[in-house]
Amino acid sequence: METVIVVEDIIKRYGDLAAVDGVSFKVYKNEIFGIVGPNGAGKTTLVECMEGLRIPSGGFIRVLDLDPKADGYKLRQLIGIQLQEGLFPDRLKVNEVLDLFAGLYSRSVAIRPLLEKVGLLDKADGYFDSLSGGQKQRLSIAVALVSDPQVVFFDELTTGLDPQARRAMWGMVSSIRDAGKTVILVTHFMEEAERLCDRVAIIDRGRIVALDTPANLISRIDGGLRINFWLDDLSIVTELENIKGCKLTVSDQDITIQCADRRVVDEVKRVLEHNNCNFHDFTVSKPTLEDVFLSITGKEMRE
Ligand SMILES: Nc1ncnc2c1ncn2[C@@H]1O[C@H](COP(=O)(O)OP(=O)(O)O)[C@@H](O)[C@H]1O
Ligand SMILES: [Mg+2]
Repeated sequence: METVIVVEDIIKRYGDLAAVDGVSFKVYKNEIFGIVGPNGAGKTTLVECMEGLRIPSGGFIRVLDLDPKADGYKLRQLIGIQLQEGLFPDRLKVNEVLDLFAGLYSRSVAIRPLLEKVGLLDKADGYFDSLSGGQKQRLSIAVALVSDPQVVFFDELTTGLDPQARRAMWGMVSSIRDAGKTVILVTHFMEEAERLCDRVAIIDRGRIVALDTPANLISRIDGGLRINFWLDDLSIVTELENIKGCKLTVSDQDITIQCADRRVVDEVKRVLEHNNCNFHDFTVSKPTLEDVFLSITGKEMRE
């Protein structure tokens, strides 16, 4: 496998805070590499070091064999960076935005096919401020692709979008990989990472706590099943914790139990019913990347 990005022991400090605290990984050509974790984990700081937009306090980075710090100009001709929504002037038309960005690069793709690819051809003459949230995000994807980059960085691409627009965006990101490019996808949506990424680095407090394919990460959790419900009264928790094979987490009144098989599910129900507990919204599901995060860090992803 061809290595496109090497990150070795990267540290980025802001005063006393180590926002990125000794992170190492490689990204291979033509994969979607996910960087996931809660807000404030250090994801944006990390990718911006890879893009050459922030200077690490220590460590080593090579992107396409270039040092983002020393070879920043050369590197930015080869990578695509998705800019956050709202960064384009309201009274600029969609095709003018793309012409403007195309002009910044020594090479660029034809604008019309690009607009067609992101589904904005009929909006080519529309003003930026007439676009919906999803359309603005699609324009930011087009801007990231205008230089025909080998590596594309997306940071929270789908934040603020409704589920339908989010799914449309997922299709677009997959098609970028299918076109032979390498994608770095930063997200705090675990479901998005699970669906899209070939490999995922889970970041918490500036460190990688796990790195693997979503399927391998999920299969590593002891429990094959996840039980969720909530209780009016938490006094039963100790008894539930004592059930063999039951890994229990409490957050306010919400109970999450990870377990290996159906028998534990039946036993949990039996204990609840036997003690006349008021339990609500009892569901059993297969584990997800959210559960991986919970099982590694002991806390929920969602704030
Ligand atoms: N320019 C900055 N100056 C000081 N602290 C910063 C700066 N940028 C980010 N931070 C802090 O670094 C931590 C990581 O931030 P960030 O990389 O934006 O995380 P994420 O993208 O995972 O939400 C946070 O605690 C944030 O407040
Ligand atoms: Mg961020």
